[in-house]
Amino acid sequence: MIKDDDSGVVFLKDGEIINEIKRLKKEKNAIILVHNYQNKKIYKVADIIGDSFELSKAAAATSSKMIVFCGVDFMAETAKLLNPEKKVLLPESSASCPMAKMICSEEIKELRKQHPKAAVVSYVNTNAETKAESDACCTSANAAKVVNSLPNAEIIFVPDKNLADFVKPKTEKKIIAWPGFCCVHDRISLEQVQEIKNKRKNAVVLAHPECRKEIQEIADFVCSTSQMISKAKESEEKEFIIVTEKNMVSRLMKEVPEKRFYGINAVCRQMKKTTLQSVLDALKHEKNEVKIPKRLFQQARNALEKMLEVGV
Ligand code: 13P
Ligand code: SF4
Repeated sequence: MIKDDDSGVVFLKDGEIINEIKRLKKEKNAIILVHNYQNKKIYKVADIIGDSFELSKAAAATSSKMIVFCGVDFMAETAKLLNPEKKVLLPESSASCPMAKMICSEEIKELRKQHPKAAVVSYVNTNAETKAESDACCTSANAAKVVNSLPNAEIIFVPDKNLADFVKPKTEKKIIAWPGFCCVHDRISLEQVQEIKNKRKNAVVLAHPECRKEIQEIADFVCSTSQMISKAKESEEKEFIIVTEKNMVSRLMKEVPEKRFYGINAVCRQMKKTTLQSVLDALKHEKNEVKIPKRLFQQARNALEKMLEVGV
């Protein structure tokens, strides 16, 4: 405990905050779900660390009364849609994925008018309003599988154009892609990846499908964040270039300590807004509860259930 002499405010040290979070978690029967991109410190209070699909699955399966979601808004909304009766808290209420705002329900309605026979698949990185207009959601772990599970020959795929490029060679269906993108992944250049590749000639390149097509093309594997962990574990190779958010390297080092990982300087500032203090405050005061308008609830949930039913 540190006391500020001027203000009299008492600050807790990280270890004390962690202990208090753990105590409150038990007391309140809460579960803490943490996305792979969160800071290492947040991993310490996690019940489950994972990618969007794993965390959605965990949210659907939990028997805890409260869910604290350390990630961004669409993830906490997803947890709420799958748990209408539970309290879902987003510790940092302003942590918001910019890509999710690149499409809205009116634009989907317009696309449906232009392509009346097409089904709509929305990436889970969307708000509840977009999900409610969709036939199914998908994550980076199961995008092609979801597309192929639908009977329609045409698929309107929103909002990520790069994920759409990843799906196209994996389906016979016509993909009508929306030009959205993740500002963190879309900014990674081919030159940045080539530069590391030139220095680490034997390293395997693992890239996230939110990266541009030219990066997907030079990657050895294009996969979700958690699939990167399984690839690194299964592979006989010892070195990996990780083309996604910077923190994924910490996660891989924790999970596969015997191998070497080289990252890209790509930071998702929205993910990094969550701090141990904000997790403690949210849990203690049960604040920043996620609310979803009633009119959207069932439709948005249906699209998510389809995603979980298809699996990975
Ligand atoms: P994952 O589902 O692969 O974790 O990706 C989520 C995300 O937002 C990546 O930018
Ligand atoms: Fe959104 Fe990109 Fe951040 Fe993922 S990395 S949460 S897609 S801004």
